[in-house]
Amino acid sequence: MSKLIRGQTLSFAADGQSVVHHQKGVVAVADDGRIAWTGSIDKLPDAYATWKVEDHGHRLVAPGFIDAHIHFPQYRILAAPGKDLLDWLHRFTFPEEARYADRDHVAAAADIFLSRLAAHGTTAALAFCSVHKACADELFKAAARRNMALVTGKTMMDRNAIPAVHDTPETGARESEELYRAWNAKGRLRYAVTPRFAITSSEAQLRLSGELLASLPDALMQTHISESPGEIAFVKELFPQARDYTDVYDRFGLLSPRSLFAHGVHLGEREAGRMHEAGCTVIHCPTSNTFLGSGLMSMPHLRKAARPVDLALATDVGGGTSYSMLATMGEAYKVQMLSGYKPKAVELFAMATIGNAARLHMAGETGSLEAGKFADIAVLDPEATPVLAARHEVSETLEDVLFALLILGDDRAVSATYIAGEKVHERSLST
Ligand code: GUN
Ligand code: ZN
Repeated sequence: MSKLIRGQTLSFAADGQSVVHHQKGVVAVADDGRIAWTGSIDKLPDAYATWKVEDHGHRLVAPGFIDAHIHFPQYRILAAPGKDLLDWLHRFTFPEEARYADRDHVAAAADIFLSRLAAHGTTAALAFCSVHKACADELFKAAARRNMALVTGKTMMDRNAIPAVHDTPETGARESEELYRAWNAKGRLRYAVTPRFAITSSEAQLRLSGELLASLPDALMQTHISESPGEIAFVKELFPQARDYTDVYDRFGLLSPRSLFAHGVHLGEREAGRMHEAGCTVIHCPTSNTFLGSGLMSMPHLRKAARPVDLALATDVGGGTSYSMLATMGEAYKVQMLSGYKPKAVELFAMATIGNAARLHMAGETGSLEAGKFADIAVLDPEATPVLAARHEVSETLEDVLFALLILGDDRAVSATYIAGEKVHERSLST
C-alpha cells in the first residue's frame, strides 16, 4: 500500500564524498514498492499529501545495507575458533554445510537467515549457498516471498573438502544452469556462478565455470581469492603453471566486470593490475580477516590511482563475526587505520549502500533513496543504546553521528527495515 516514510532522510553519493540529507525528510512509496518521490516534507507534492504516514521522528531513514558476500549455510557457525582459514573450513564449515542436503532443514534455515539480515538492516545481498541444489532453490524461494534483491548460486566444489559436500564438474555445471533458468531475473533475483575457490575446484570445474559465465550474460560470478597465507601456498602447489592466484582464475575466463572476488587480502601489484583491467570487484570482509587471522587488506593498495580496483564491503558470515554492516564498517575503519588510511563515515556508508549496489549490478533498483528505485530502507537510531545516546549528546555534525553509529552500532541501532516498501522488521525491546 502507498505510504509516506518520514524521518531524517539520508542517501549517499556513489563517489563516497557526499550525502543528501533532509532533517525533515520523507520517502513517498507507491503501491509497487518503488519510491515515487523523496525530499523535504515542505516540498512534498500535493498528490502524495494524503498517503498514510509512518513517522520515524528524528531517526535516520537511510538506504538499506547491501551485504556483498555472505554464506547462508554458515548462519549458525559464527564464532567457530579455527586455527586459520583452512582449519576452520575443515573443522566447522564443511561439516555444517553438509547438513544443507536436507530440504526441510534448508527451508527453515532460509527464513531464519533472511529475517536475520532484515533485523540488521540488510535489504539485499550476494550470498553463497551450499553445494546442494535444494539450498539455492530454497533461498531463492524465501527471497522471492520477501521481494528482496538477492543474488546467489549453488556452490561448486569437487575436491579437497569432504565427500558430503562434493559435486562433479558435470553435475555442478548442470545444476547451476538449471537454477539459473528457474530463478534468474525472476522478480529481483539474479544468479551467480559460484565456484567456491581454486582449492576446492578442479581445473575441469573451473573451466566449466568460465564457460557458464560466458554463456549466461546476465549472471554474476563469485568466488574467493588470496585470503590467507596457507591458502595461497596450497593454490601455488595445485596450479604450478599459474603466475599467481589471480592468474588461476584468469586462465579459465573468470575475470570479468561481472566477477566478484571475496577478500583479496594479499593481492600483488600484477594481480591488482589485472583485476583493474578486467573490471573485477574485490570484496573487503574485515571482520572475517581479523577473526581468522588472514591478514589486513589495504584499500589504498588496491585503489592505487594508476590501476584502481573496484571494492565492495561485506560481512562474510560465518567467517565474519557479525551480520551487521555497521559493525563491518567499524572493523573496516580499524583495518584501514592499520594500513595508514582513515576512511570517512560517509565513504563507508556509501560503500555499504550505493557502492555495493553498483558492484552487484543492482544500482538501477536499490542502494539509494531516489525516485524509481525500490524503497529498500534501514531506519537507524543514533541513540539506540545508552552508550550511543551519550555519544550522540556531543556529536556535532552528520559525519560525527554516522561515525559513532558505525563504531558503536549493530542491530540494536536498526529500528525498522523496509524491503520494497514493506516493513519486514521492527525492533522491539525483546529482539
Ligand atoms: N574460502 C573458501 N571458502 C570459504 C568460506 O566459506 N569462508 C571464507 N572466509 N573463505 C573461504
Ligand atoms: Zn566467504
